[in-house]
Amino acid sequence: MDLKNKVLIFLENKKGIYISGEKISEELNVTRAAVWKAIGNLRREGYIIESVTKHGYKLMEVPDKLIPAEIKKYIKAQYIGNNLICFETLDSTNTKAKELAENGVPHGTLIISEEQTGGRGRYGRNWSSPSGQGIWMSVVLRPEAEPANVARLTIIAAAAVHAALSVNGIKADIKWPNDIILNGKKICGILTEMNCELNRINYVVVGIGINMLTKTDEFPEELKEKAASVVSETGIVIQRNKFIGDIINSFEEMYDEFIITGGAERAIEVCRNNSAVIGKMIYIIHRESKRRVKALDIDENGLLVVEDEKGSRESIIFGEVSIRGMEAYI
Ligand code: BTN
Repeated sequence: MDLKNKVLIFLENKKGIYISGEKISEELNVTRAAVWKAIGNLRREGYIIESVTKHGYKLMEVPDKLIPAEIKKYIKAQYIGNNLICFETLDSTNTKAKELAENGVPHGTLIISEEQTGGRGRYGRNWSSPSGQGIWMSVVLRPEAEPANVARLTIIAAAAVHAALSVNGIKADIKWPNDIILNGKKICGILTEMNCELNRINYVVVGIGINMLTKTDEFPEELKEKAASVVSETGIVIQRNKFIGDIINSFEEMYDEFIITGGAERAIEVCRNNSAVIGKMIYIIHRESKRRVKALDIDENGLLVVEDEKGSRESIIFGEVSIRGMEAYI
């Protein structure tokens, strides 16, 4: 750990009280000049550290900036996020993650960016990702699993975001297979991409985009009706660094289950119990066609079970279709 982070931990442990530069330098066995430099670096990252002559330094405020050391404090997972790379700006964290995966970064590498200039959604759509307003991140995974089962990782990611919201007191719905919904509006989407051979996965990238702070009128015109953020819907500001930790911790638990069993039972249960679509009439959209069906259940494979007007049932495979509510987004 570098000195800056050691000083930070020191100040955090003494939050609310002044601690002299001399004391810090003694405890960390470095010069006072080195402490002073580390404090300067922390301030440049947005930490508000008050200094008073004869009293020393006091940590007043931790910035809501994505900072690897802050995020790592909250990650209890064993391997996801061990290699964590934060960018100020990227075109897309998924694109970067794929590039790094090609170059051999380890399983569990986490790529995060404050801003995406070319954020990508499903079906080639754009994903608006303004600086500092959300969480735009991608995990590189190298699972020994059937390529056909990889879509389950999308469900696992959705369940992990749902669980992280719950931990922070927010009850959300999940629009199968991968949208998190608050008050009928989408606050999060997931884009899972895979590089594989016939029966061997080279790597998978799970990209998660969550609108955290964006105000309703700040969304692009075409999204205002259906997109929202955690703050616009609940007024709750969750520290993004902590929230990333909450998501990763929950994701790794369910990912472990997937590796052991090949299934995603727990994640599917979360999606089923908090579904925004089960019991509702929805449109299944596939290319030019649009069918009206009733969503009945999510089965043990994570497929959406629907029934058409004639009473015939089928299980919908995700990736092939998109679904819409009758009147609104859902
Ligand atoms: C969707 O609902 O269409 C999926 C949206 C996924 C957006 C995330 S943001 C982080 C990662 N990088 C991207 O370019 N896309 C995903």
